[in-house]
Amino acid sequence: MKDFGYDISDFRDIDPIFGTMEDFNSLLASAHSKGLKLVMDFVPNHSSDEHEWFIRSLQREDPYTDYYVWQDPAGFDGDGNPIPPNNWVSVFRYSMWEWREERQQFYLHQFVPGQPDLNYRNPNVLTEMKDVIRFWLEKGVDGFRQDAVAHIWEDEQFLDEPLSNNPNALDENDYDYYDHIYTNNLEGTRVILAEFYTVFKEVEALDGFPRLTMLEVYVSIEDQLKYYKVSDFPFNFALMNVRGPPVKAEDAKREIDQILDRIPTNYTYNWVFGNHDKWRLPDRIGGSELVDAFNLMSLSLPGVAISYYGEEIGMTNNMDISYEQTVDPAGCNCGPDHYNDEPCSRDPERTPMQWNAEFNAGFNSEGSSEPWLPVNSDFDTINVDAQQGNPQSHLNLYKEMIKLRNLEPTYTFGDAKTQLDGDILSIARLQEQIFYDVYVTMVNFGSETQTANIFQSFQPYLEFGLVLISTSGPDGENPIGTVVDLTSISLAPYQTVVVRLTPSKA
Ligand code: GLC
Repeated sequence: MKDFGYDISDFRDIDPIFGTMEDFNSLLASAHSKGLKLVMDFVPNHSSDEHEWFIRSLQREDPYTDYYVWQDPAGFDGDGNPIPPNNWVSVFRYSMWEWREERQQFYLHQFVPGQPDLNYRNPNVLTEMKDVIRFWLEKGVDGFRQDAVAHIWEDEQFLDEPLSNNPNALDENDYDYYDHIYTNNLEGTRVILAEFYTVFKEVEALDGFPRLTMLEVYVSIEDQLKYYKVSDFPFNFALMNVRGPPVKAEDAKREIDQILDRIPTNYTYNWVFGNHDKWRLPDRIGGSELVDAFNLMSLSLPGVAISYYGEEIGMTNNMDISYEQTVDPAGCNCGPDHYNDEPCSRDPERTPMQWNAEFNAGFNSEGSSEPWLPVNSDFDTINVDAQQGNPQSHLNLYKEMIKLRNLEPTYTFGDAKTQLDGDILSIARLQEQIFYDVYVTMVNFGSETQTANIFQSFQPYLEFGLVLISTSGPDGENPIGTVVDLTSISLAPYQTVVVRLTPSKA
């Protein structure tokens, strides 16, 4: 728990704080019996320093001696202290090197010292980790999110990394202070991922069940294309680049179009706008007005829509966690003055799911142990229970959109086209060859009512739209069931509507 599950001491077992392997097996069976797939997190870059491999490596016990990246010191200072091999700085601040007296060497850790990096130049490590993937896939797990894959491979010359001149870096101990040309996103990483990918294919061929592999990798679109060759898809974080306030419709359009224009349509698109490492959407864009817009946009776009728990009810960051209560190493290492700055502590976006307005938001019962992070104080209004009965709630709009997307083949087979008119962004889903219905999601990013002509981009299609989903209630603008004229549609501030094109007003 030095990095809350990302420091693994046994790749083939379940941490007792979560239960036993029997519990896991029954979870998997019960998910499958409900038609759900279960995807796990695979952490190939590092283990815990409590892993048996590391303990043996520390003792230079073969075959584990080179299971990790060990280097001699660059020298010793005047006081006899060892000097790290180079200037590499970890993702969570401070040197990437940790000295161990036992070996009189430093080991590499791209994250916290409790997460020593595995050495993939040693073929045994690759074989071991491929076996780990096989172990879970053969158990019937439906796939993996592969963690922090850009960090798998380092340049073997161990040269200093150049400065980035990034003004957001706190100081020279900060990851952003350097340009990570020797430690991040190297070709060797993709060679290893290609090896992992063969295991997915092997197991699929054996039992006939498709397995999913998605990569956590923050890279340019050019590089995303390379990662598509070694996975089902790398995560597309484009929607996270849309910031506010104010949120600009043209920013959203640009980010979406870059993906649609530059990633071939036979690749699986995917859309992520939140995860356990980034501030929650309302805090990133400066308000909750566009929560539905983002949920409905990502569910309207082609490919896989990825949701982080709480997004479906519009959960916000818990910014009331004190420095003393902060547990995330990324936050602790930023110190009391900066721990709550973005991107330091990740605790604010990791607080318990808000189920109801009762004790600890229904996350656990009174008398049981406290949750690992304090519940966000907005849980009395932002919770599943409160939203269940309200057709206009974030939760119900989200559910409606999922229903529509599952029902209508356009959302599976259709192309996507975007259009901008003032602050109104439209995303159309259409299929030119086959006669499936055309659907358009329209978002007014502006704080004023606005009128747009959507029809200009859809001339060969129909001019009217039947409103299927609307963020305004029955008395608001464009209620469900009304027919709207796409040559001149008015949307209330921050409103989103989803329409199906229809022949006429009648
Ligand atoms: C990934 C995870 C993050 C974790 C890190 C190290 O970025 O998403 O939560 O701290 O890898 O494993």
